[in-house]
Amino acid sequence: MKKKVAIVGWRGMVGSVLMQRMREENDFEGLDLTFFSTSQAGQPGPAIASGAGPLVDAFDIEALATHDAVVTCQGGDYTKEVHPRLRAQGWDGYWIDAASALRMEDNSVIVLDPVNRDVIDRALDQGIKDFIGGNCTVSLMLMAVHGLIQQGWVEWITAMTYQSASGAGAAQMKELVVQMAQIGAAAGGAAADAQAPVLEVESTVSELLRSADLQITQFGAPLAASLIPWIDRAMENGQTREEWKGQAELNKMLSLDPLLPVDGQCVRVGAMRCHSQGLTIKLKRDVPLTDIEAAIRKSNDWVRLVPNTKEATLQQLTPAAISGQLDIGIGRLRKMTLGDDYLTAFTVGDQLLWGAAEPVRRALNIVLGR
Ligand code: HSE
Repeated sequence: MKKKVAIVGWRGMVGSVLMQRMREENDFEGLDLTFFSTSQAGQPGPAIASGAGPLVDAFDIEALATHDAVVTCQGGDYTKEVHPRLRAQGWDGYWIDAASALRMEDNSVIVLDPVNRDVIDRALDQGIKDFIGGNCTVSLMLMAVHGLIQQGWVEWITAMTYQSASGAGAAQMKELVVQMAQIGAAAGGAAADAQAPVLEVESTVSELLRSADLQITQFGAPLAASLIPWIDRAMENGQTREEWKGQAELNKMLSLDPLLPVDGQCVRVGAMRCHSQGLTIKLKRDVPLTDIEAAIRKSNDWVRLVPNTKEATLQQLTPAAISGQLDIGIGRLRKMTLGDDYLTAFTVGDQLLWGAAEPVRRALNIVLGR
């Protein structure tokens, strides 16, 4: 019998990328799919899957409960409302979720199978049913450097992040482009004129950034031609929640004991959908760079080691180069002047693919034994 899979939140940004990836990988084949909607029950379902009926109300617990698995990209509020009710009525199907709501629960696993397939398999054996995609920054960092952690070489990591607008949401991505357009309209003519004084171009831009004319409804501050060194809400210790997730989620994901310390600063920049991170990795000993490169190369099928040259970096290690691809770039790799047990690296990955949709897509196949 075909496995019955409920899909919720497939129209949003992460959901759309998930649908696209499922189509590319023929994941719809062999599944009995129902598409749910929080607002448009009864309307026709997507044309992507043959035989999918009309949309079903995503709050219809009875309907959800007839499925072997529920996959949701609907967001944390939906998860908090629906998941407990579904479990309370005895449903023991697989809940696969892109939102953070259940990530740190004892009976959930954070999924990133190229990195923690062993943890996922153990959880399946133990009867765990909640499989949750990780924070994008953490997942992308692990895809890049998990090979070094696996070798037992890493004492601690700091990550200075350069996070794209997509991580904040669809409306924020659009706002970034609106800000760019506003800047272009105000200063583009002078900027294109080689004779125009550059400080006039700069002051036009700076005045716009500080004026009430710039659209900052979503971000609360200019992002284009600027950056925002704050992501998510404040924690009591001075970290932002995004910074807190680094250590909390990485350690849970890999089931590490003792804890691997991870901390840094998380910064929103004007990239569209790739998160980048400048890493400092304290090694437990002076591991040769060639061994480090070899461990990274063989750690998974998607990591791409970029030579530490200007040419290769500009061509291969930018959000512009990596956007829309499953490749995880890692480069600028070298020992630091701080000492031979200090490694630095720069990594770039697509926030919507390995950062969000891809681990969820693969988790569905894993739990269904496909
Ligand atoms: N919290 C992340 C960000 C995205 O704001 O970039 C989701 O993991």
